[in-house]
Order: sequence, then structure tokens, then C-alpha cells
Amino acid sequence: MYDMEKTPKPIIETQRLMLRCLTDDDLPAFALMNSDPEVMTYFPSTVDEQTTMSMIRSEQDNYRQEGYCLFACVLKETAEFIGFVGLHKVGFEIHFAPAVEVGWRLVKAHWNQGYATEAALVVIDFGFSEIGLQEIVSFTARQNKASIRVMEKCGLTRSFDDDFLHPNLKRTDHLAPHVLYRVVVPG
Ligand SMILES: CC(C)(COP(=O)(O)OP(=O)(O)OC[C@H]1O[C@@H](n2cnc3c(N)ncnc32)[C@H](O)[C@@H]1OP(=O)(O)O)[C@@H](O)C(=O)NCCC(=O)NCCS
Repeated sequence: MYDMEKTPKPIIETQRLMLRCLTDDDLPAFALMNSDPEVMTYFPSTVDEQTTMSMIRSEQDNYRQEGYCLFACVLKETAEFIGFVGLHKVGFEIHFAPAVEVGWRLVKAHWNQGYATEAALVVIDFGFSEIGLQEIVSFTARQNKASIRVMEKCGLTRSFDDDFLHPNLKRTDHLAPHVLYRVVVPG
């Protein structure tokens, strides 16, 4: 079972998952996930260990500054790190920014068991009820059907007028065309 004495404070819990800040101890498992070409199919490249460490630091800063970040996703039953799900300020200039996105990346062995959806649903609720966000967006390369399905299952709807070419990619790159999904605070 998850040992709360030895691991950082959980920020959000679901039935099967503990969401907490990323720590230096996550580096080996996080870097392994980021080095998997299949996990990174819809990104320009895999990510090395040094950049993974920078991501951990940057998300720790984001949590301190904003009260949210990309959270480490940990299986309660085994304490295994299975990836991240969380909130992140859109980090590039685009017509729909400033905006906060919900994002996810999981270790392949744990795909298609409902984990991303289970975590994202509570993260979205956290964003509205604890952070006070009015809207959360999500976006991905238009070929990324699994990610789009998670958006749909979490109640985000496609904003067809907001399709965009990712500004960090060449316009001709097959991954450049992105779709945008949105969800607004209920009520
Ligand atoms: C996207 C990702 C986080 C989804 O995690 P997950 O835990 O498998 O998601 P869930 O199990 O909650 O839901 C996945 C859904 O996508 C569906 N799906 C998976 N692969 C699919 C495909 N190739 N085409 C269509 N649907 C697909 C699943 O059937 C499931 O839908 P269902 O419940 O209606 O059957 C995971 O695939 C991943 O880490 N991908 C690589 C990283 C990535 O692309 N991140 C997003 C960048 S924007």
C-alpha cells in the first residue's frame, strides 16, 4: 500500500490513484517513460533524462506559484509511478492563451485501463473548485485518438473554430495540426 510516511503528501486521491507533486525520486521511472518512442509518438522526439529532471523542477515551481502542476500519478496499491496528469499554463503564444490546460502522459503498460480519465476528472474538478479556474482547455495533434477520447470522456468539447498549427513545429510537420477542446466551470 501507499506509505504516506515515506512519500510526499498526496494532493488528490481517486479510487485507484494518488496524485502528488513530482519528486527527484520519480526521475528513473519518469525518464524511462519519456524515452519510450511509442509514448512520445505525438511529440517531436523522445525526452532525455536531463530534460526530464528540468520538467520535475519546473512542475515543482509551478505548484509553489500556482497551486497546481502536472501531478505524478501513483498507483495506490503498489506505489508505482505510472505517469502524470495535471494542469499547466499554456506555454506558447497562441490565440486561445492565456489558458490552463489539462494534460496527461502514462507509461504504456498502464494504458487503456481508465487511469488517465479517472485522474483527469478529479484534476478538472480540482481546477474549478480549488483553483477557481473558469475554463480548462486541452489540445493534441489531431491524430492522437486516445488523448482525444480522454478529453471527450472528461466532458471537454471540441472547439472546431480553434484548430491550430502548433507554433513550435514547422507548418509542414505532420504533427503540427492540433485540435482544441474546452470545458467551462459547471453552473
Ligand atoms: C493518452 C493517454 C494518457 C491515455 O491514457 P489511458 O489511461 O490509456 O486513457 P483511458 O484508459 O482513460 O482512456 C483511453 C481511451 O482511448 C481509447 N483509445 C486508445 N487508443 C485508441 C486509438 N488508437 N483510437 C481510438 N481510441 C483509442 C480507449 O479505448 C479508451 O476509450 P474507451 O474508454 O471509450 O474505450 C495514453 O494513451 C498516453 O500516455 N499516450 C501517450 C502520451 C500522450 O499522447 N499524451 C497526450 C498528449 S496531448
